[in-house]
Amino acid sequence: MERTCHPLAALTGLLYLVCLLHGDHAAAAVTTTGTADGSELWGYVQVRPKAHLFWWYYKSPQRASSPAKPWPTILWLHGGPGGSGAGRGNFLEVGPLDVNLKPRNSTWLQKADLIFVDFPVGVGYSYADDPSALVTTDLQAAADGTGLLKALAKEIPALQKEGSPLFLVGESYGGKLAAMIGLSAARAIHAGQLKFTLGGVVLGDSWISPEDFALTHARLLQDVSRLDDNAVGAANKMAATVQAQIAAGQFGAAEKSWTDLLDLIDSKSGSINIFNFLLDTGVDSMSATSATGSSSQLMKYSTYLDGQPSGSESNTIGGIMNGVIKQKLKIIPNNVVWQAASTQVFDALVNNFMKPSVNEVDQLLSCGVNVTVYNGQLDVICPTIGVEAWVQKLTWVGLKNFLSLPRHPLHYCDSSKLIKAFVRSYENLHFYWILEAGHSVPVDQPCVALNMIGSIIQSPAS
Ligand SMILES: *[C@@H]1O[C@H](CO)[C@@H](O)[C@H](O)[C@H]1NC(C)=O
Ligand SMILES: *[C@@H]1O[C@H](CO)[C@@H](O)[C@H](O)[C@H]1NC(C)=O
Repeated sequence: MERTCHPLAALTGLLYLVCLLHGDHAAAAVTTTGTADGSELWGYVQVRPKAHLFWWYYKSPQRASSPAKPWPTILWLHGGPGGSGAGRGNFLEVGPLDVNLKPRNSTWLQKADLIFVDFPVGVGYSYADDPSALVTTDLQAAADGTGLLKALAKEIPALQKEGSPLFLVGESYGGKLAAMIGLSAARAIHAGQLKFTLGGVVLGDSWISPEDFALTHARLLQDVSRLDDNAVGAANKMAATVQAQIAAGQFGAAEKSWTDLLDLIDSKSGSINIFNFLLDTGVDSMSATSATGSSSQLMKYSTYLDGQPSGSESNTIGGIMNGVIKQKLKIIPNNVVWQAASTQVFDALVNNFMKPSVNEVDQLLSCGVNVTVYNGQLDVICPTIGVEAWVQKLTWVGLKNFLSLPRHPLHYCDSSKLIKAFVRSYENLHFYWILEAGHSVPVDQPCVALNMIGSIIQSPAS
């Protein structure tokens, strides 16, 4: 198989233009600090004038590596766009501590070093000096992401000095960003501008092809008895509108039509939870107050993990991020208030939201980068049947062989005969079907997710 990565001239030109416009040629300003023992590092990278990205690195206490098999590093990209990786990805999904600051036994730190970023600029602790510095396209976000990686390769000894393979893992919209940044980084590595090993790109319930998701929400819900024929007919009409608008490049209009489609599904399904079809939407204040407008799905995404264990000692994510965590980190400017979801960041990207990134995944595959897709069986917003639909559109030479192979059942985490997942791999494409999980696999199936990520990154600990 062809292993070289030929940049597309047009796309490179665009990236270059973005770089020039934003003065990326100047060395990024970097502020790095951390714990005395070096087990944690965090800081800001100013990737452009007025644009400050926050990152937080944890070194694994389980590190075991040999020159033949260096210990891997995972960079987690949260969804939204507008959700905070350093907050939600870290304390609610895979980081070493939970929201009550108690150890999480399923933390991915057992398998890899972890980097959480608040991405893009304007999310969580990351900030823009004024709103004009927010990104309006995924390409701009990818340029910022590549700028961040250039700085991190120098700031984090594991990456450049120790040759740790870096895996970009994205959830939901974070997966689209992971594909975009992965491609931009692969090219920068190929051109000798970025020096580290890109281990792979991992797409968890990722927003890769909005068209294929719009076309499959209703079919899935009909098959599991949450929509009737009448509702499916109406929903499919709306999905066809979304499809036509995307085809015409009318991404802003497509986003509105898609929101209408979700509103229809909500009313006809008895308010199904679009992140897990076995659940209904809670009547929490967040989703109730933001039911209209383009940000409503973002707010639902950002609050649906907030089910707090009962008890008065329980922390909230907003409470710790604006309290003890901010105090610990010391470098967060006083006027930066951590939010569950940045609607400004979402709104700045809204005309880009429905743009697919199937081509980027295709190019990653033909560049020889390992791409892993994992998807929760119960997800509605990024339904597995929609993911299978976009995978079938790939032009990658290995696709036919990939599709013809049998899947292997996985019995992770259980001595019984219950199957937890299926996997299929061919060359550099890997697909995990995760059973009994919704949109956030590490939350719904923490033990399965831990075992899966260990396999994906070939952790010496697995
Ligand atoms: C892709 O992953 C496989 C293991 O799953 C590994 O053997 C291979 O070296 C990886 N390829 C690249 C280019 O990283
Ligand atoms: C973590 O703790 C829970 C509850 O005690 C347990 O069910 C689970 O098997 C443990 N391990 C992992 C890896 O999730």
